[in-house]
Amino acid sequence: MKSVVILISGRGSNMQAILEAGLPVAAVISNNPAAEGLMFAQTRGIPTQVIDHRTFPDRKAFDAALAETIDTYQPDLVVLAGFMRILSEAFVDHYQGRLVNIHPSLLPAFPGLDTHTRALQEGVKIHGCTVHFVTSQLDHGPIIAQAAIPVLTDDTPTMLATRVLAQEHRIYPQAVRWFLQGQLTLVENRVEIKTTSDSQEVLY
Ligand code: GAR
Repeated sequence: MKSVVILISGRGSNMQAILEAGLPVAAVISNNPAAEGLMFAQTRGIPTQVIDHRTFPDRKAFDAALAETIDTYQPDLVVLAGFMRILSEAFVDHYQGRLVNIHPSLLPAFPGLDTHTRALQEGVKIHGCTVHFVTSQLDHGPIIAQAAIPVLTDDTPTMLATRVLAQEHRIYPQAVRWFLQGQLTLVENRVEIKTTSDSQEVLY
């Protein structure tokens, strides 16, 4: 059966949404031994692994160990879900077309950290989240799905984060499901989604 490996660094609510959608998760791996999400995965009987980046001499060594562990599960897709490490080109190349990420902004706007604070500072009226295939450029790559929400006049970064996160939990499991069903592929750096027009509505 096809499966995914999910990489997390913290809370793991996107990982939880993917698990609760009934998608086949072979393992959850974290670079952070204290990641709260590890506990949830364990309670669901999902194998977990910690590969602490602080115990490696450099990024290359960490990424190599990470890839080696991921590959023992032979996943069809590697899912970054709040995995807060920059990945090397060698790692990204190894998983070309089968490595996805979710980011809390409408990319290409606001790559990086503190997206909700920056969205408010810039006064944008529409904000949201993006699922994309990963390239070696941070928070960049062919876009699979986006969900948009209006920014309200009284919004705080926390309020905005809460509403965006609800959208993340909606579109990420759907994108993963499509990939596993063979309806989503990356062809020469272009995203191809083969679904009925009805089910594509969930992606915006
Ligand atoms: C999510 O909002 C995700 O989009 C973001 O981290 C959060 C993780 O939450 N990812 C990034 O900023 C990646 N650049 P979670 O651990 O509860 O899924």
